[in-house]
Amino acid sequence: MRLALFDTQSYERVAFEAANAAFGHELTWFEPRLIAETAALAAGFPAVCAFVNDRLDRAALTTLEDGGTRLVALRSAGFNHVDLDAAAALGLAVVRVPAYSPHAVAEHAVALLLSVNRRIHRAHSRVREGNFQLDGFVGFDLVGKTVGVIGTGRIGKVFARIMCGFGCRVLAHDVAPDADLIALGVVYTSLDALYRESDILSLHVPLTPDTHHLIDEAVLRVMKRGVVLVNTSRGALVDTRALIDALKRGHLGAAGLDVYEEEEGIFFRDLSDQVLQDDVLARLLTFPNVLITAHQGFLTHEALANIAHTTLDSVRAFEAGEPLTHQVSAAG
Ligand code: NAI
Repeated sequence: MRLALFDTQSYERVAFEAANAAFGHELTWFEPRLIAETAALAAGFPAVCAFVNDRLDRAALTTLEDGGTRLVALRSAGFNHVDLDAAAALGLAVVRVPAYSPHAVAEHAVALLLSVNRRIHRAHSRVREGNFQLDGFVGFDLVGKTVGVIGTGRIGKVFARIMCGFGCRVLAHDVAPDADLIALGVVYTSLDALYRESDILSLHVPLTPDTHHLIDEAVLRVMKRGVVLVNTSRGALVDTRALIDALKRGHLGAAGLDVYEEEEGIFFRDLSDQVLQDDVLARLLTFPNVLITAHQGFLTHEALANIAHTTLDSVRAFEAGEPLTHQVSAAG
């Protein structure tokens, strides 16, 4: 089947070309993000493939449908960037990759936590400049600390297990508690108790209207002084302005962020020759105790291979008229 892939990077092309040897689809690569203004590029393609910072709103989906597209294949787990009601009304099927490597994202969350706690990001720059002083690098032992995990689905579960391995006390909150984690000693509790007791807080819930700005000013005030916040899920789970205020007050110990609420149009781009126009992000980047990565939690060889295989297999199933195992719809 002819598949138009948007917002593509070189590492994805390698993974998709390799996986496509087993499928034989006709792949066409587009660098621009898939948004209303670029959707016409997909005219004549029955299937399009989109990533996390594409914006599949009603206008974009209408243009896709006008151009003959019938399938939107998301090469991501999250689907908060798709207007599913509009897709259903237009008769567009939407599929995603629900799980490709929860380990990739969970391990990246751990990497962020270890780095900000021990200031590895600063130590690297300092040593390269010939400064071997240690001032400002005092961290804390993880063993015995309380880690709050919000969302214990695929990724949060792996993260919680790793934290148990570090000897941490793990508190969790999820609408559906996980029996394996309970058996491991993880304690499910209310959000309020989790906020009050955690030394480290890691977010693994999807972005929905319920979870938008889950971490806001009120929550940040309730949390322990010195708490380390890790967000590898979606930027808008956190009210970034409130986060900046908490950092300025010295209330937050550190933050490790792989996602940012206004990352669209910034992350996955080389903007090093330009003046950064986003003042909130620019302010965040000034804090010595904040480490930001540009949405790379998923970026392992294993995850890329799984993403490519699952996406191309969904396209095959669609072409064959088979049921779509990974379809997402407004009803859930
Ligand atoms: P999942 O669907 O397996 O787990 C999500 C968990 O959150 C579920 O257990 C669900 O019951 C729980 N949940 C949902 N709404 C809730 C609420 N309002 N309150 C409490 N619990 C709630 O999802 P998975 O695979 O673990 O991914 C989590 C998120 O990670 C994704 O939604 C995506 O936004 C993000 N992600 C980030 C990546 C990165 O590269 N940084 C890559 C992949 C996913």
